[in-house]
Amino acid sequence: MKILVTGGAGFIGANFVFYMLEEHPEDEIVCLDALTYAGNLETLEPAMDNPRFRFVKGDVADRKAVFPLFEKEGFDVVVNFAAESHVDRSIEDPGIFLKTNILGTQVLMDASREYGVKRFHQVGTDEVYGDLPLDRPDLFFTEDMPVTASSPYSASKASADLLVMAYHRTFGLPVTISRCSNNYGPYQFPEKLIPLMIANALADKPLPVYGTGENVRDWLYVEDHCRAIDRILRSGRVGEVYNIGGHNERNNLEVVKTILAQLNKPESLITFVGDRKGHDLRYAIDPTKIHEELGWLPTTKFDDGIRQTIDWYLDHEPWWRNIISGEYQQYYEKMYGNR
Ligand code: NAD
Ligand code: TYD
Repeated sequence: MKILVTGGAGFIGANFVFYMLEEHPEDEIVCLDALTYAGNLETLEPAMDNPRFRFVKGDVADRKAVFPLFEKEGFDVVVNFAAESHVDRSIEDPGIFLKTNILGTQVLMDASREYGVKRFHQVGTDEVYGDLPLDRPDLFFTEDMPVTASSPYSASKASADLLVMAYHRTFGLPVTISRCSNNYGPYQFPEKLIPLMIANALADKPLPVYGTGENVRDWLYVEDHCRAIDRILRSGRVGEVYNIGGHNERNNLEVVKTILAQLNKPESLITFVGDRKGHDLRYAIDPTKIHEELGWLPTTKFDDGIRQTIDWYLDHEPWWRNIISGEYQQYYEKMYGNR
């Protein structure tokens, strides 16, 4: 199979590239990535010498770049990771989220139709289900729940999902969608909760916890996510949505305290700051469908995954130190300066 992976220089996309090159020696992968602030070619270094891998710099919303690439390469499968992915940034400036996440998806699907792609897989998020209340631990996200959105980010991802289903019904495009819970693991950009807290703790800087720290996320180790997408590509039913995640719920304060304990840093570094606007309370996935249909379940428990992740950040300081210079410093000052 020849697979286009968009957004492969970002966190999950890069992990997916590594996973697929390793697991499927028969497949070829082309990565299309615009190298925004979140994309990093250094991350893809281990794949660059692989003759079955090729990197192309380009914007998924740029029709003039995307169509010739599809014509030339003749992709069998497209896996669309490319996105603006950070909720806080979407609250500051929604426009680019709509362009990349919605219009970019449209361009990729138009090209997929034109050049006969056999599967278009949209990497979605559980944030399109809105949130669950904190006092109802019996409730979980299932695929038949209505799509709604709290942030411009989740609204853009929800819109993309609706468009994907519309292209399936109207044009017969062979699509699948996965909706995954919060990922963590190697190569995550340090603006997100877990790597941000690791980097700050190592620098003995305050750990900014939004609101009360009681918000709950359902954490999934990134390799489990990659394995689930692979299963969907190979055995998932066209036109279907699959939730990915399950039963690794922690509230933010628990996550932060776990990080501090492993790094031997004091809890006095925890600093409660102003809450995120529209902050979703709880995400929790019911993975019954993907488990029963495709035999997938998460394999890495949070306590093991967080240990491995912290070790990875300790072993790869140059990778994340590079990233948190420059633009990120301005971002950090703007977002956290007066919070
Ligand atoms: P990320 O921000 O780390 O990486 C995004 C990548 O997309 C970067 O390499 C960036 O350069 C690239 N990109 C951005 N705009 C582009 C454009 N216009 N054209 C081409 N490339 C572009 O994001 P991530 O955390 O790896 O998330 C990947 C996907 O998974 C996203 O679609 C996101 O919505 C989804 N997702 C993420 C999580 C999570 O916890 N991180 C959970 C569920 C779903
Ligand atoms: P994040 O990693 O941004 O993922 P998402 O918003 O997509 O779930 O945030 C995870 C949780 O951590 C979320 O409830 C917001 C919270 N959070 C903080 O408390 N402080 C921070 O500095 C960040 C980035 C997030």
